[in-house]
Amino acid sequence: MNIKAGIIGGAGYTGGELLRILLQHPAVEITFVHSRSKAGEPIVSVHSDLLGDTELRFTDIPGEDINVLFLCVGHGEARRFLADNPISADVRVIDLSQDFRLAGKAAIGDRAFVYGLPEWQRDAIRQARNIANPGCFATAIQLGLLPLAKAGLLGAVHTTGITGSTGAGQGLSATSHFSWRANNIQAYKTLHHQHGAEIAQSVGHLQAEGFALHFVPWRGDFARGIFTSSTLDFKGTLAEAYQLYEAFYQDHPFTVVSREPIHLKQAVNTNKCLLQLEAGGGRLVVHSAIDNLLKGASGQAVQNMNLLFGLEETMGLRLKSIAF
Ligand SMILES: NC(=O)c1ccc[n+]([C@@H]2O[C@H](COP(=O)([O-])OP(=O)(O)OC[C@H]3O[C@@H](n4cnc5c(N)ncnc54)[C@H](OP(=O)(O)O)[C@@H]3O)[C@@H](O)[C@H]2O)c1
Repeated sequence: MNIKAGIIGGAGYTGGELLRILLQHPAVEITFVHSRSKAGEPIVSVHSDLLGDTELRFTDIPGEDINVLFLCVGHGEARRFLADNPISADVRVIDLSQDFRLAGKAAIGDRAFVYGLPEWQRDAIRQARNIANPGCFATAIQLGLLPLAKAGLLGAVHTTGITGSTGAGQGLSATSHFSWRANNIQAYKTLHHQHGAEIAQSVGHLQAEGFALHFVPWRGDFARGIFTSSTLDFKGTLAEAYQLYEAFYQDHPFTVVSREPIHLKQAVNTNKCLLQLEAGGGRLVVHSAIDNLLKGASGQAVQNMNLLFGLEETMGLRLKSIAF
């Protein structure tokens, strides 16, 4: 099978990671890569990591001969793009923004979106036509909580999480400037991060009531990756908690439950989510590590594409971390 893919927002960070994966994907042919600011320029003029891998150039004209369209643009821009550019109903859309993640907002016209977290609803994704790809923090935190939600064991959850600077996209801002970010750390959006709503939505499908998330995100002084730690009351033993997690994820190739301490570098440059549990004093702590641009964005988008088109879930995504 040759899936013809188009990318909107191809000059950004998630667009660049998507290109890196799709250029090596055995079932995909890239038809066009859209950029308003770089139209006509070679892809490698922006994504220099792809030097020698592609002769493609950016275009500002979205092509029509495609099977799947990836939207790698900012929040609000994805919905606007689909409103301004009628795309054939036959084309599957995978949106990386938050525009279609929440029920009540998960459609534009007749185009309805399914929330694309395979570890929660892989069968629904296989049947879907369009995918709302989850947020990066939302992915790390949800994968850390789903087994407990399924068992109805979630109460108040206190989560801290640290993210690299690529989480904010390629545009320069005061907090992504090197001289601010290097050797620095800051809490932001304390208790008000936008991903709380999508986390509550998925957990709510598994556990009707009793869950509350108290989330403090941090900006970290590294480029890639997310590490979260969620703490909650837990009456069982650590061994029981591990059994729950290992059973829940046994058929999910990208979520790996570790009995050894995990660290960020194990996840960076992979589509994996690594989970580790610790217990003490009646509490359980769930550590979770992902690459924000891969399992948190473009890697998960390709995982969803594989499911939509009936391909092996891991196709094109067997990436290895760089350990040292
Ligand atoms: N970065 C992450 O770790 C991450 C993780 C999960 C989800 N996401 C989400 O993924 C989306 C893309 O993130 P990103 O980090 O790749 O952002 P980015 O680096 O800022 O890139 C977005 C690109 O979209 C293009 N664009 C913006 N508005 C557009 C429009 N109206 N029509 C067409 N193109 C437009 C821009 O390129 P041109 O001006 O050249 O067209 C820009 O380079 C965002 O919604 C973000 O929240 C990001």
